Amino acid sequence: MDSPGADPGHADPRGTAPASGKLERYRDARVAETYDRRWRGRRGLRRQRRKERAVLRAVDSLGALGPLASVVDIPCGSGRFTELLRARGLRYLGLDLSLAMLLQAQAKSPLAQLAAADLARLPLRDGAVDLVVCIRLMHLVRDAELRLAFLREMARVARRGIVVDYRQTRSLQSFARRLRYRAGLRSREPGALAPAAIRRELAAAGLFPRAWLPLRGPLSDKLVIAAANKATSES
Ligand SMILES: C[S@@+](CC[C@H](N)C(=O)[O-])C[C@H]1O[C@@H](n2cnc3c(N)ncnc32)[C@H](O)[C@@H]1O
Repeated sequence: MDSPGADPGHADPRGTAPASGKLERYRDARVAETYDRRWRGRRGLRRQRRKERAVLRAVDSLGALGPLASVVDIPCGSGRFTELLRARGLRYLGLDLSLAMLLQAQAKSPLAQLAAADLARLPLRDGAVDLVVCIRLMHLVRDAELRLAFLREMARVARRGIVVDYRQTRSLQSFARRLRYRAGLRSREPGALAPAAIRRELAAAGLFPRAWLPLRGPLSDKLVIAAANKATSES
């Protein structure tokens, strides 16, 4: 990162993006304090390790395009991937809209550089970092235009490319969720997209998949994707 300092004057912790209710809940201190519980215990830790492995594989696939020295992790949330990415020797900047979540991240990683920022309007110049990592956000954003705006903003600041996760429809889990939604047993429409729709969305932002990593085999609904920035990754 040449000038990683997120400009705090620019960051608006209230956010400019129309957040869904599901996203706004992370501004609540109680939600932030209990967020990490889901990664604890035998099952939770297994899920965490699985995700970490996929994120690192995705990072490596972009690393094959050229050296990676810097990363923006947005939303960094409670710092779930902060130490993992720092341990890779990457200059790290964790950004999130929620001050409550940032406080959790700071408590776990006091040395990490963290700031409040909105993914719709990053306080960073074009190509400021090699890589942007965005985990556990896209499936919560139901507005396709907002997802595209987020992807474009990531592509604007990430020279090499991005690592992003999605939920995809081609899985038993997604099928079951859709059935439950249609039967009125679930209030929110599932946030999974068809693989072709994900590819279209990435391409519309100038991003091209290099690694497509279902978390638990080919029929998993959870996908980690490494996507290269076509505009800058080959220069
Ligand atoms: C489900 S958490 C994911 C956090 C972390 N990446 C993880 O995997 O645990 C979603 C996060 O997105 C943040 N968020 C929501 N809208 C945002 C926006 N427009 N810009 C930046 N962060 C946002 C929330 O504050 C919350 O911390």
